[in-house]
Amino acid sequence: MIDVREGTRADRDAILALRGRCFAGEDPEKQDPRFWEWEFGQGGRFFVAVDGDRVVAHLGFVPQLKMLAVDAMTDPDSRRQHLFSRVVECARDTLRNDVDFSCAFQIREAVLPAMVRGGWRPAARAFVLVRPLVVAPSRGLAVTQRLGGTEQPSDRATEQPIPSHLHWRFLENPLWKYDIHANDDAYVVTRRTMLRGHDSVAIADLGWPKGKERAGRALLREVFAKGRAEGAQVAAVLITLAHPALPVLVRAGFLPSPHRFRFLVNYFGTDFGTPRKQKRWPLTWADTDHL
Ligand SMILES: CC(C)(COP(=O)(O)OP(=O)(O)OC[C@H]1O[C@@H](n2cnc3c(N)ncnc32)[C@H](O)[C@@H]1OP(=O)(O)O)[C@@H](O)C(=O)NCCC(=O)NCCS
Repeated sequence: MIDVREGTRADRDAILALRGRCFAGEDPEKQDPRFWEWEFGQGGRFFVAVDGDRVVAHLGFVPQLKMLAVDAMTDPDSRRQHLFSRVVECARDTLRNDVDFSCAFQIREAVLPAMVRGGWRPAARAFVLVRPLVVAPSRGLAVTQRLGGTEQPSDRATEQPIPSHLHWRFLENPLWKYDIHANDDAYVVTRRTMLRGHDSVAIADLGWPKGKERAGRALLREVFAKGRAEGAQVAAVLITLAHPALPVLVRAGFLPSPHRFRFLVNYFGTDFGTPRKQKRWPLTWADTDHL
């Protein structure tokens, strides 16, 4: 008999075991209990289908963009039995009591039908843009700071010029470490990672006030120089068309890659598409849990 319900912290290890069965060898840091505690231990929610002591389907939510759906997975032995669909319905019917909408980035096609049946609807497209980093001598790396693992995140958080709602995202992750480039008017957050086999400087987030594009451009040059000096092949960014930094990125040489994702929104209990619900979504990787 399969029980579908909201999960509790006691389900953590069974959820991580499910992750191991679904994503063997993929994002291994996400199987670390410290990563799970960071992701779900501070306001995260998660919904599970349970068969005895095994979690056989799962959908998590992290408290960004109200509640962002993440980590869709069903045990390989239990797929195509509508277990994930049941978990999605349970999540929707529970979360609608607490938040007025929920979002998701749809990366794999198999996830979409259950999410659409549950009421999530495409609202924007997010594009991965890339810019080759040609080999060149390193020049002035200026104010770049690497956040060291020994530093106290809470102390750093008060010093960093990134928006406060991103402190959890970038300063408290136990395993992913970010570089925060900042000047008086702008910030660019990066993480060095492999993307589709390319050694990349991923721009996780960036921002500056209107009229301060020059400050943003200066930081991007700094990011490119540091990436080149460290041997990275490309810079990459995930961004929607509504993001104000897009023109600066295009002028800086970023080009569209083949990778793009649907951004889904579920306005609980309301008709999607009414004028007051239509919203432009300026999004970056900061709005995902992925990078
Ligand atoms: C995606 C996933 C969670 C779906 O779980 P599931 O329990 O099999 O999904 P459901 O049975 O509820 O499927 C609902 C609908 O989705 C569609 N669907 C599900 N899996 C599909 C597949 N492999 N191919 C095509 N359509 C699929 C079907 O329309 C299905 O309805 P139907 O069976 O009546 O035709 C599961 O395949 C999985 O864990 N995949 C690996 C992990 C993963 O990629 N997660 C997404 C991370 S972004």
